[in-house]
Amino acid sequence: MALVPAKFIFFPIIFFLLTSLSLSKAELQPNYYDQTCPQLEKIIADTVLNASKHDPKVPARILRMFFHDCFIRGCDASILLDSTATNKAEKDGPPNISVRSFYVIDDAKAKLEKACPHIVSCADIIAIAARDVVAMSGGPYWKVLKGRKDGKVSKASDTSALPAPFFNVSQLIQSFAKRGLGVKDMVTLSGGHTLGFSHCSSFVARLRNFSSVHDIDPRLDTEFALGLRKQCPKPSNNGDAGQFLDSTASVFDNDYYRQLLAGKGVFSSDQSLVDDSRTRWIVEAYARDQSLFFKEFASSMVKLGNVRGSGDGEVRLHCRLKN
Ligand code: HEM
Ligand SMILES: *[C@@H]1O[C@H](CO)[C@@H](O)[C@H](O)[C@H]1NC(C)=O
Ligand SMILES: *[C@@H]1O[C@H](CO)[C@@H](O)[C@H](O)[C@H]1NC(C)=O
Ligand SMILES: *[C@@H]1O[C@H](CO)[C@@H](O)[C@H](O)[C@H]1NC(C)=O
Ligand SMILES: *[C@@H]1O[C@H](CO)[C@@H](O)[C@H](O)[C@H]1NC(C)=O
Repeated sequence: MALVPAKFIFFPIIFFLLTSLSLSKAELQPNYYDQTCPQLEKIIADTVLNASKHDPKVPARILRMFFHDCFIRGCDASILLDSTATNKAEKDGPPNISVRSFYVIDDAKAKLEKACPHIVSCADIIAIAARDVVAMSGGPYWKVLKGRKDGKVSKASDTSALPAPFFNVSQLIQSFAKRGLGVKDMVTLSGGHTLGFSHCSSFVARLRNFSSVHDIDPRLDTEFALGLRKQCPKPSNNGDAGQFLDSTASVFDNDYYRQLLAGKGVFSSDQSLVDDSRTRWIVEAYARDQSLFFKEFASSMVKLGNVRGSGDGEVRLHCRLKN
């Protein structure tokens, strides 16, 4: 024993420790399904494209689905599990008001179960679909890393950990930092609001009786605020009424950032990105340079897709049910 140099003993031990650690939380890979399900990306893209043709709300809903999924328990498709008699699931929690279109993921999963049974996780389907809706709306394309597992837990109460539309910059930064995402990732991913729609309830507090001195949030462009008031005639409970999040809500572009600089951010959280020196320079850079925004968005989406949960996962047979 004394004749064996120490490094020959320690190396195998360290190697064993490293490999067992990485097995418990394996790195995601771009080529994860190349051998087991090579048609995966085409099946998902076809499904998402067809669904979006029939319902133009699908792209925004899928992009938001990915964000909510990754922010709660990591990107593990916990957002897809249905409530049961004894458990109220994430999708039935308070901010669920516009996360919809789960059927698109179900359709893709059904086709994948025929093509390559019990191989592809629902979490990977959401991640790929989110990339596809961005690309098909005119945004950037990137390689999605794969190999996520589907979680077994989904709780409505967890959704209180999502950032709220009245958050200030410090609260937004903190919320993203908890998931390992930096200030720039936060401003970049907020650019997801270049797509989609919001119900009045998420911004109506800015429009009437805002504070003791201001009837309307003074950061809002006045004409824009009066337009929002028309969209939301009542101080509360405007039903399905609302507003598109930027002036080109079905096109993925940098218009969102230009709108923020013009005082036309729909949410207080969006508008606050302009008021704080930690974030304003990023808003200005993206408003000037769409290709910079696209490049950074792709890279921050990969980081968002790397947010990991407990690691106790499986490949579900049906996205709404654990096995
Ligand atoms: C920064 C913190 C964020 C806050 C506070 C926030 C808040 C909200 C709220 C309140 C809505 C409207 C819900 C409704 O009333 O129907 C919404 C919609 C949306 N959000 Fe966010 N969000 C944030 C970040 C993100 C991120 C990171 C993404 C994706 C990368 C995203 C994508 C979307 C999309 C696409 C919609 C439109 C959904 C639709 O049209 O159905 N959001 N967000
Ligand atoms: C296309 O989408 C529509 C509406 O969701 C659906 O009824 C139809 O079956 C889909 N077609 C294919 C080939 O997936
Ligand atoms: C959440 O969604 C469910 C099903 O769509 C709905 O019945 C419920 O009222 C929603 N909850 C809230 C707080 O919006
Ligand atoms: C942001 O909001 C939190 C919680 O309401 C508050 O404590 C903090 O002072 C605010 N920060 C800024 C910079 O306004
Ligand atoms: C505005 O707020 C004050 C104080 O909270 C309240 O007394 C008043 O009724 C409100 N006005 C309207 C028009 O809602």
